[in-house]
Amino acid sequence: MLKVALVGVGGISGAHIPAWLTMEDVELVALCDIRPEQMEKYPQIRHYTEFDCMLEQEQIDILDICLPTYLHADFAVKAMEKGIHVLCEKPLSLQEADVGRVYAAAQAAGVKVMAAQVIRFWPEYEYLKAVCDSGRYGRLLSGSMSRLGAIPGTTWDNWMHDEKRSGLVPYDLHIHDLDFLVYAFGAPNKATAHRAKRPDQDYLCAVYEYDDFFVTVDASWFASPYPFRMSFRFQFEQAIIAYEDNVLTVYERSGKIFQPAKAADCANQAEYTLPATNAYAEEIRYFTDCVKYDRPVKRVTPESLETVIHLLGTL
Ligand SMILES: NC(=O)c1ccc[n+]([C@@H]2O[C@H](COP(=O)([O-])OP(=O)(O)OC[C@H]3O[C@@H](n4cnc5c(N)ncnc54)[C@H](O)[C@@H]3O)[C@@H](O)[C@H]2O)c1
Repeated sequence: MLKVALVGVGGISGAHIPAWLTMEDVELVALCDIRPEQMEKYPQIRHYTEFDCMLEQEQIDILDICLPTYLHADFAVKAMEKGIHVLCEKPLSLQEADVGRVYAAAQAAGVKVMAAQVIRFWPEYEYLKAVCDSGRYGRLLSGSMSRLGAIPGTTWDNWMHDEKRSGLVPYDLHIHDLDFLVYAFGAPNKATAHRAKRPDQDYLCAVYEYDDFFVTVDASWFASPYPFRMSFRFQFEQAIIAYEDNVLTVYERSGKIFQPAKAADCANQAEYTLPATNAYAEEIRYFTDCVKYDRPVKRVTPESLETVIHLLGTL
């Protein structure tokens, strides 16, 4: 049984903690947050308000970092120096140099680390990547990706609205789509961006150019209460694949239109089915299996993280 602790019991921990609690081969033994009230709804797990104290008192195999972005790298290194494997929420850091620092610490300690780039595990995006890799619909011609919503409300210490600590829209939201592009297609040849940034809102529109295709990507924290939505539309020679209003649809040139079946609903799990699992649970399962079976963390490489953080710095 692997023992797990989680630090930073805020918004995103609400997606991580239930995933850990449903796994039969791990035990979530401890939570840490400087605000004790954040942990009250998990009375069955031990609570700490000081990270160092938790590290001293608990025997932990995996630490899950759900802290504000600016704390990720330092907390990851500190845990790894104690021989603990680390799963860390995105972005690993706002500074490209931290990727090398974190991975060097992992190597020195003989432990594994993974940035939780959840879109690499998101069923509809996994489907899109599988179709691209297969060449099933011919060459990719263009793409567009969107991640729009209103500016987040007040967070602890208002860190999310502080550019130095969160990086605002590029590092908080846009990173998801850029990370997917780098994961699926590698580094683009060229990146250009336009931004409408005010103290109360932030909108970014970027174009990434590859050899044979380009992808436009936009992301927002609007001042108005615009509902959150993520979507994409990719144009291949023989089909359009669109993820809109939470529905993935394939529009084949032949006229056939269909929604890919979920793997769980398919008797025969064919190549082109939608993985059925929750992406947060899936990334956590993936990393845990890498630790459990001593497998390399191939799904999220330091090179790809460096490329993404570097590109974000150029926008
Ligand atoms: N993958 C995703 O879809 C996704 C979604 C949202 C947020 N995130 C990422 O998750 C991270 C956290 O975001 P959030 O929205 O949950 O933030 P949040 O502010 O809601 O939660 C952070 C928590 O950390 C605690 N904290 C702060 N300093 C601490 C310290 N020194 N020791 C212990 N606890 C401390 C705060 O009290 C707070 O409860 C960010 O890096 C963000 O980019 C990822």
